[in-house]
Amino acid sequence: MSATLTKTWSIEFEKETLEKLFRQYAPHVPLTREHASRPPITEEEKENFYQYWAATGGHDLFIVQAASKAILLIPDLDLHFIGDDGAHAIAFRERVIALTGRDPIDDIRKEAERHWKFLEDVPYRNWLGFVAWELHYEHHILPQVWFNKLTSKIGDAVLAQQSNERFSDDEAVHSVTIANWWRKKFEQASPNERAELAAQLLELDEEIQQRRAAYIKQRWQDAENFNEANSQGIEPIYDAWRKEVLSYLLDISDPQLTSISK
Ligand SMILES: [Fe+2]
Ligand SMILES: [Fe+2]
Repeated sequence: MSATLTKTWSIEFEKETLEKLFRQYAPHVPLTREHASRPPITEEEKENFYQYWAATGGHDLFIVQAASKAILLIPDLDLHFIGDDGAHAIAFRERVIALTGRDPIDDIRKEAERHWKFLEDVPYRNWLGFVAWELHYEHHILPQVWFNKLTSKIGDAVLAQQSNERFSDDEAVHSVTIANWWRKKFEQASPNERAELAAQLLELDEEIQQRRAAYIKQRWQDAENFNEANSQGIEPIYDAWRKEVLSYLLDISDPQLTSISK
């Protein structure tokens, strides 16, 4: 597939661009972790661990649900990440049980419902809605994942290991698959159609941004409160990264986007 594309998404591009943005806006964050996080010890820390990872499980469960609905629109897409993200949600659930003794399944479900409430039909409204939604959930989210992974003081060694050995590779497949599938559709379109597709995707991206903004900011706060992460600099990195993703994939040099701070 990639041989026919003039531009492809790659993990190297993802990594280089994010590292550049972290050096620019968050120079206090070491790009490789110096000290491992420690497990939650007190009751309060365990409760925080429960909250953070139940919500993360809900996020991945929502991806499974939304992609399952959208798959009917997109018969030619390799959507195997439905299985991967389901497995991630299960792993988060299992680690919460192991460390806190409580099963978060009901809260995971509630959290997935929350995503449906603020997004409504966008992920399956049409195929472009699906692509725009995927870009938010697989690409735009990366600064948040990086900040938590690099700066959180409280975490779980088992999850960290699973993340290094499996989840990161899974997510790499997701971001590359979606981005290159989009590029294939985009590059096959006529120049007029291309401009129209890019404009529509941008509009959907902005719609999702508005629907998600309050949630995103709350998650950053949660990472600080629950995991003792240091999210200083995340706002400009989020904005700049989102711009890089859309600029690259839509062939627009300076897309006009609403900042997360607005
Ligand atoms: Fe995932
Ligand atoms: Fe994913």
